[in-house]
Amino acid sequence: MSQTMNISIEISDHELVNTITKNLEFLNDVRVQKWYGAMAEKGELSVKSSPNIIILDDDPETEEIFRRLSKIRHVFPLAAVFVISTVKDPKHIVAVMKAGATEYLVTPFNAKVLTNAVEEIRVKMTERGHIARGAVYSFISSKGGLGSTILSVNTAVTLARNARNGNAVALCDISFQSGDTSVLLDILPETTIVDICKNFHRLDVSLLKGAMIKHKSGLELLAAPVSPEDYEIIEAGQTEKIIGLLTKLYDRIIVDCPSMSITGSTMEAFRASSKVFIVIDLSLPAIRNAVRITQMIRKHGIGEEKIEFILNRYEKGATLSIEEAEKNLGKRIFWLFPNDFSDIMSSINEGEPVVQLHPRSLISKNIMSFTDKLRNKLGSKDYRGAKTAFGKSI
Ligand SMILES: Nc1ncnc2c1ncn2[C@@H]1O[C@H](COP(=O)(O)OP(=O)(O)O)[C@@H](O)[C@H]1O
Ligand SMILES: [Mg+2]
Repeated sequence: MSQTMNISIEISDHELVNTITKNLEFLNDVRVQKWYGAMAEKGELSVKSSPNIIILDDDPETEEIFRRLSKIRHVFPLAAVFVISTVKDPKHIVAVMKAGATEYLVTPFNAKVLTNAVEEIRVKMTERGHIARGAVYSFISSKGGLGSTILSVNTAVTLARNARNGNAVALCDISFQSGDTSVLLDILPETTIVDICKNFHRLDVSLLKGAMIKHKSGLELLAAPVSPEDYEIIEAGQTEKIIGLLTKLYDRIIVDCPSMSITGSTMEAFRASSKVFIVIDLSLPAIRNAVRITQMIRKHGIGEEKIEFILNRYEKGATLSIEEAEKNLGKRIFWLFPNDFSDIMSSINEGEPVVQLHPRSLISKNIMSFTDKLRNKLGSKDYRGAKTAFGKSI
């Protein structure tokens, strides 16, 4: 199923059409069509498409809008209709809404008002199953410091840079007590998940979007609380709803989870995930904990097929072999990330993700292939990030 929203504009003022189109271009997965000559009123056969949103103008001199609305409602019953008008008279607004408009925007309108209205429609279309939901990938280290934050941030940045549109990827930091994602992205969060939870009763697209921080890669971050004591106000049910709304707005949602303890919020992230990546290294404590986490996840009724082990800081010749690790894990390791201390350290110190700072480094190329695998774009099925000296996949 496609994630694209089709928006058709039937407005006679070309300048207004261009302004609207420019505003909509900032959104991900939106296809804009310009209609003319009362195409909307003629229906699907005339336009050969079924729009999710139709944007109309309103000529204050005539009552045209009511006739157009009634026809369009009839030929496109599933589409939302936005009316753009210079008329501020509340009576007229009520009449237009009663005639079937979904939104009424008075010119000159604020770009945010328009884009948020479009995103609200996206949420509704997703709920009704007309548009696909985004995929959630959670990352958790089987013990502290194995690399969940480094890997989740760089995966999210790579996915964002590869997205057709700028803002298709969200990174959600639910490592509430030590949220490091903002540090790695060199962002001083002015808004965090706490701002949403404090106003939770009015959670909608505007509140959520208002709390997301845009990174230059195109990624949008929902940062963890700045003061660790704030994390206590966040309830698991709130995390569930927030991630749920993110899946209706973004193609891919990366969640960085805390490793110290598995919280209710973490479990909700896992539940929403299409993949839960447990970061391990080739050490017994890491593997034992990975097994423990897996058992706990399964006890909560989360499917085993979602759980994947990813090995970080892989170096050939480690004391424990991959085969031994896999015997304990009971599953093939999904991916191997190489050890690349100097590139990662300089990226941390510069506040720039390694895939951006050193795109040609071993670790960056590896992370790019990992995201290819997530997007089903990897040529070889066997390849999981490392090869033998003879070029065979390990
Ligand atoms: N592939 C890697 N190569 C070298 N060092 C790494 C690698 N991945 C992570 N590290 C190091 O491990 C540290 C902890 O990583 P981090 O992502 O913060 O772990 P976690 O979020 O699991 O606690 C980083 O500061 C970095 O120094
Ligand atoms: Mg971390």
